[in-house]
Amino acid sequence: MKIVVAKVSEFPPGDRRIVQVGKRSIGVFRIGERFYALNNYCPHQGGPLCLGRTAPTTSSSRPGEYTVNEDVFVACPWHGWEYDVTTGQSYLGPGETPVRSYGVSVAPGEALGGDVKFPDRVPGPYVAETFEVHVEDDYVVVDTTARQAVR
Ligand code: FES
Repeated sequence: MKIVVAKVSEFPPGDRRIVQVGKRSIGVFRIGERFYALNNYCPHQGGPLCLGRTAPTTSSSRPGEYTVNEDVFVACPWHGWEYDVTTGQSYLGPGETPVRSYGVSVAPGEALGGDVKFPDRVPGPYVAETFEVHVEDDYVVVDTTARQAVR
């Protein structure tokens, strides 16, 4: 089933829409010029996932430098599990402190050698259902029959 969400011109970057399709609620997000759709049902305990706060991810390849990525996480408003909007994959879960403190030291770059490790994201156990989103004739359309492949 295809559901028209909105005109592209009325759906600015950074915005989201929640559409009701029968008993199913789907969140559609515009990130830059791309659109993504997630089931508005948190796989943890069924919270309204797509109503949560969103934030871009960041990455770093060396001390003192970071990049703000195009992918965006949405945090479930019930217990805080965070999901990649583009894939539905969960990462940070409840009970985990979002911001931890560690000892910090200052060292010259040469002293770090090749032993510096930048942690990768560790996937959580949950994956929110995702759907394909297209732009057809200036309208954003969600296709609930075409679920995205699990990555
Ligand atoms: S129901 Fe979403 S984090 Fe628990």
